[in-house]
Amino acid sequence: MSAALIDGKAISEAVRKEWKERADNLKAKGVLPGLAVIIVGDNPASKLYVSNKIKACHEVGLHSEVHDLPEDVSEKMLLKLIEELNQAKKINGILVQLPLPKHIDESKVLEAIKQDKDVDGFHLYNVGALMTGNTVFPPCTPFGVMRMLSYCKVPIAGQNAVIVGRSNIVGKPMAIMLLQEDATVTICTSKTKELEKHTTNADILVVATGRPEMIKAEHVKPGAVVIDVGINRLESGKLVGDVDFEDVKKVASLITPVPGGVGPMTITMLVANTVMAAERDSGNVPTD
Ligand code: GUN
Repeated sequence: MSAALIDGKAISEAVRKEWKERADNLKAKGVLPGLAVIIVGDNPASKLYVSNKIKACHEVGLHSEVHDLPEDVSEKMLLKLIEELNQAKKINGILVQLPLPKHIDESKVLEAIKQDKDVDGFHLYNVGALMTGNTVFPPCTPFGVMRMLSYCKVPIAGQNAVIVGRSNIVGKPMAIMLLQEDATVTICTSKTKELEKHTTNADILVVATGRPEMIKAEHVKPGAVVIDVGINRLESGKLVGDVDFEDVKKVASLITPVPGGVGPMTITMLVANTVMAAERDSGNVPTD
């Protein structure tokens, strides 16, 4: 068996079109959705992610601005900027690119973002709302994975979903979103004993560990849907996921590539959350 590819780039283009239409509807009413991205320091991966986010905003015709702060910026200055953006009329969404330097308290920063502008969905209010099924801004990466699964008509209710990784950005919210759609969910961590006992039970396997190519064919049930959230650069310069793509595609039924899998979907869902924030702010939430 050789798995079919879940083409994140193509799905993301199709989904982005839907959100462009919603943005165009707002613009016709004089509302221009706006996103502010804050980046602290010179982490090259973060810089690349941010430039891709801004590019997507341009493509869909949203206002966007980047606030590029030096590595040694004080927490106080960062909080002051967030407060200004909280008040700024032309900004509907605020995203602080993570990770932040060690001298800055990440939780304090995320809590400073106004809930209604929290397009990353990382504010405690939005985390709690996700937990109770009342989410306004689902975190972009798991939101993108859910959209991919629905686009590919992958059944979720009653299926065994296994997530490897328990981060706040991906693993935990991914589990809640799959649970909300009635999957039977298992979360594995780096300490899980006999990982393959859990992963070979998965109809849907989502991997977000940051460990290059750790998931091999023997971890995967034949016919499973495999979603690779990882993106790692090897010493050779090659980009790979957390899944050994060549090995696992022999047993999976559907698999995401890296690059061109989950990455573009994350960015598209950020656009979606920004447009949603502008719809809510301007009282133009579509009713259907
Ligand atoms: N760093 C890695 N992924 C993300 C993300 O989805 N949002 C933010 N703000 N930072 C990240």
